Amino acid sequence: MTPPLRSRASACGKVILLGEHAVVYGIPAVAAGLPGGLELRARPLADRGAPMELSIPAWDVDLVLRIDDDHSVARAALEVLTHCDGPVQGWRIEGETSLPARAGLGSSAALTVALARLVLGQDADLDTVVEASLTGERVFHGEPSGIDSQVAARGGVVRFVRGEAAQPVRPGGPLPLVVIPSRIPRSTVDQVARVRQLVTDQPRIARPVLEAIAGCVDVGISAIERNNLAELGEVMSICHELLSALGVSIPRLDALCSTAREAGALGAKLTGAGGGGCAIAVVPDPAGPIVSALEREGVAALTVTVAP
Ligand code: MEV
Repeated sequence: MTPPLRSRASACGKVILLGEHAVVYGIPAVAAGLPGGLELRARPLADRGAPMELSIPAWDVDLVLRIDDDHSVARAALEVLTHCDGPVQGWRIEGETSLPARAGLGSSAALTVALARLVLGQDADLDTVVEASLTGERVFHGEPSGIDSQVAARGGVVRFVRGEAAQPVRPGGPLPLVVIPSRIPRSTVDQVARVRQLVTDQPRIARPVLEAIAGCVDVGISAIERNNLAELGEVMSICHELLSALGVSIPRLDALCSTAREAGALGAKLTGAGGGGCAIAVVPDPAGPIVSALEREGVAALTVTVAP
């Protein structure tokens, strides 16, 4: 018999601190969970045979989930529920979030992880939840590395290598970040394909860039563990230039990183797939002057402190 949905479940958002794109090629990456990612609540519909409903007003999602639906959110949601042997009709699911959608902050992973937990329970085995999340993530992103699902499920700071269990990283102190939305939408699939094309066409150039990103990840993790924010900032800024060399930055992201650095950030880079989405800056405490400088450019930045 199909189990009922739990009444609530949640998942984190994520910021990739270092290693995006390179992680697709087996290089480690380090990412942090953003608390308050997505909270889902479920209640049974009066008509238990009615199609499932999914409403997340902050993401303009208001869907009736039908098996033959072409909408990627509907298809991904049904993939996850089916994979978990959960119900695919007779329930209404509502979501609350402070994460922007499609901004490189792990909104789709938060959705697929929280949906899996609505069936399996909030405390279900992490690997099982991640596996279920990936069935939905493939609908959105083709063949994702899995880093987004790992962080959405685990939270905290993790070092991730494709195909391996994520390892927790213990920050030596609070990690103050500013998340800077470009408000330019982008497609992860297209950005990953762009890098793949470069690696195929110019392996002697692209491979060393990926190796240099691996160096940034190693140095960055050590800096996080020692709470050396100046060094972390330095490698984040270098990593931004390396990602630019791979073709995934855009002038707007370059400009937002420069604004943050000129206003006192210790370093800044794009985060996630690039081509739009968000940049992140590691900042001294307080972050006020950096947030104000961005505000003068019409950008509402978000301050987040990753706790040790
Ligand atoms: C997307 O959040 C991160 C990328 O590295 C793609 C992936 O890891 O699947 C760009």
